[in-house]
Amino acid sequence: MSSIAIITGATGGLGQEFVSELLKENIHEIWAVARNEKRLSELKAKFGEKVRKIRCDLSNADDLSELFSIIETEKPDIRLLINNAGIGKMGASTEFSDDDIVNEIDINCKSICLLCNHSIPFMSVGSRILNISSASSFQPVPYINLYAASKAFVRSYTRALNVELKSKGIICTAVCPGWIDTEMLQKEYNGKPVKFPGLVSPNRVAVQALRDSAKGRDMSVCTFFVKYEHFLSKILPSKWIMNIWLNGIKDYV
Ligand SMILES: NC(=O)c1ccc[n+]([C@@H]2O[C@H](COP(=O)([O-])OP(=O)(O)OC[C@H]3O[C@@H](n4cnc5c(N)ncnc54)[C@H](OP(=O)(O)O)[C@@H]3O)[C@@H](O)[C@H]2O)c1
Repeated sequence: MSSIAIITGATGGLGQEFVSELLKENIHEIWAVARNEKRLSELKAKFGEKVRKIRCDLSNADDLSELFSIIETEKPDIRLLINNAGIGKMGASTEFSDDDIVNEIDINCKSICLLCNHSIPFMSVGSRILNISSASSFQPVPYINLYAASKAFVRSYTRALNVELKSKGIICTAVCPGWIDTEMLQKEYNGKPVKFPGLVSPNRVAVQALRDSAKGRDMSVCTFFVKYEHFLSKILPSKWIMNIWLNGIKDYV
């Protein structure tokens, strides 16, 4: 039985760093999940034979069923499941279309729970699940409201799942990074560069996340800056933090 890692959003900024780091581990195959066939092929060309391309739109029920049936047919030894794919849109919640809302919840929340449940039967002692949440999960965040709420869901779900899976020896870690330098971020607004306090490289986040999960931690918070934000979110009223945030984004919304 071959040992595998499944990484969703493997072609993105953070996903590629997970692929690169996992190639150093004793894993036979990395199942790279994303929608764009061309970027999947580029990923395979970059990282080699261990990468298996799986084209799947995580918001599409048929695509998900196909992925689950591959897992059920091949019965791999899943050592790692990294639910990394995620989308986020900035703007007033009332301006989101129905599709915007459903897609974001489907990708950021629903697909994670489904992939966990379809993978856990093929995991054993020492297997690890990393679900990518965000520092935005620490408090409500106006104008990335749906995104932040979806990431709060991921953090809560993952930490509780970690407790539920303790008896099976499976570790679940909610990864809560601050701003990461990837394509997800809109770097310019009205011709002006956007400021991202505490911006870090995706490699730093991936390395820290894998290290924290290997230590059995249910949360991974990368950099002192984000740990400080986490601490503040516990002691300051959410209203204060939301006002600081609103002041920081007043040029963009
Ligand atoms: N960047 C940040 O500042 C930041 C901060 C905190 C947390 N995060 C979280 O970190 C994770 C990775 O983000 P990133 O910054 O690396 O973003 P990214 O560079 O935009 O990558 C997103 C990845 O998700 C895949 N994806 C998007 N929609 C998909 C769908 N419907 N089905 C399957 N795959 C899909 C994309 O591939 P295809 O387009 O080919 O499908 C791509 O591989 C996300 O969960 C994000 O919320 C990011």
